[in-house]
Amino acid sequence: MVYCCTNCGYHAHKWLGRCPVCQEWDSFTEEDINVAKDVRGEGRVSGSWIGSEIQSVNSIEVDVAERFSCGIKEVDRILGGGLIAGSVILFGGEPGVGKSTLLLQMARNLAQKHGKVLYTSGEESPGQIKLRATRLKVNCETLYILSEQAIERIAAAVEEVDPRVLIVDSIQTVTSGKDGGDPGGIRQVRQASAELTRLAKARKMTTFLVGHITKEGTFAGPKTIEHLVDTALYLEGSHDSGMRILRSVKNRFGATDEIAVFQMGPTGMTEITDLSSFFLQKTTAARPGVAIVPTLEGTRPLLIEIQALASSTGGYGVPQRRATGIDYNRILLMLAVIEKRLGIHVRDADVYLNIAGGLGVREWAIDLGVVAAIVSSLRNKAMPMDIVLIGEIGLSGEVRKVKRIHERITEAAKLGYSRAIIPAVNQKAARNAHVQIDLIAVETIEQAMKTLELI
Ligand code: TYD
Ligand code: MG
Repeated sequence: MVYCCTNCGYHAHKWLGRCPVCQEWDSFTEEDINVAKDVRGEGRVSGSWIGSEIQSVNSIEVDVAERFSCGIKEVDRILGGGLIAGSVILFGGEPGVGKSTLLLQMARNLAQKHGKVLYTSGEESPGQIKLRATRLKVNCETLYILSEQAIERIAAAVEEVDPRVLIVDSIQTVTSGKDGGDPGGIRQVRQASAELTRLAKARKMTTFLVGHITKEGTFAGPKTIEHLVDTALYLEGSHDSGMRILRSVKNRFGATDEIAVFQMGPTGMTEITDLSSFFLQKTTAARPGVAIVPTLEGTRPLLIEIQALASSTGGYGVPQRRATGIDYNRILLMLAVIEKRLGIHVRDADVYLNIAGGLGVREWAIDLGVVAAIVSSLRNKAMPMDIVLIGEIGLSGEVRKVKRIHERITEAAKLGYSRAIIPAVNQKAARNAHVQIDLIAVETIEQAMKTLELI
């Protein structure tokens, strides 16, 4: 006997109260060791080519994957240019974020242009799906709906309908009769995914598997099938705004780390192509503590507004440091650099940082913007409104090189900014790009702050 975590699939030889990997409480169930091996073994089967002959790499012909559009440009883009026949896509997200909505919209487009689509739901009745479909104005003869949980009957429906695209909503509700285990448990999820993947490959049917994830941000269960699927997309959003971000975390047929942004409205999700104007707050007056920074999301440039609120506590109490959308440890580092290299006293200051629009940024090219926003707030002095800031900052206060300077300044110029502070080391590349924007090259944060008249 082994014990298996139903949340993440971790195996242990004794029962544990809490999983050491995913930290879930009371998630261990007993499993027959042979079955466990079996399931793991089967999990590796991922296509009809399994069991092919040994061949020299030179003699293998290239599979030219034919792509077709799902009707939503942004989704096509993050998939690497459209859907591929027979590919399996894991579509994860928290409950209620809008997975079913977006997929139903895609199902409509696909059914209209590319033939039959089968949408199976183990969570909602046909009536409930119809209600959503009416809201989304889905009206299509070749879109078939089935409320079903048993994998055998889903497979039979696939046989009968012969769809080009199958959507399974959600993989946690699919039960596989062969094997015991709870529905939604790790074994069921793996078994069902392996079977559906085999079906997808054999029929060259593009398949979407919806997977619910927990608050902690891991695909509960579905995380363990990520190796099976070709592509894993993850829909995230904040509850206070209608903004939704679709992220690709794995893609056998394209780049990862791409994002697409949507707005959830009364008639479904609409794509936002002009990202910068969405994330920038349009204001007429310059405000202290605000810096405009061109960042990159995947390969796309995007202008964001960094907001800082910093004020001295006067030496009383422990200073507060909060950051939303920016790495917390990076903020502490930037504060240390400000203190040491600019000689500005921040030791006892409360500092709050935020990225307008609720985006999370993970690259360091925004450092200069972060520093300028903090200093600007401390001094209560606004920066000029026509300027954007680019640069990573090193411990000695030097402004370091960033990648893809060309895209960043082009985006800034496109949105009407007339000046950019850039790292001196990026100067040559930036000038060669011939973008209609004044470039101010700086080597240290001190130079940058002087240019901004903040010190
Ligand atoms: P849903 O797609 O059911 O989420 P998931 O499948 O990820 O669990 O969408 C859930 C929310 O979206 C629900 O609270 C209602 C809202 N919604 C809209 O705002 N507009 C719409 O057009 C639709 C269909 C849903
Ligand atoms: Mg749903």
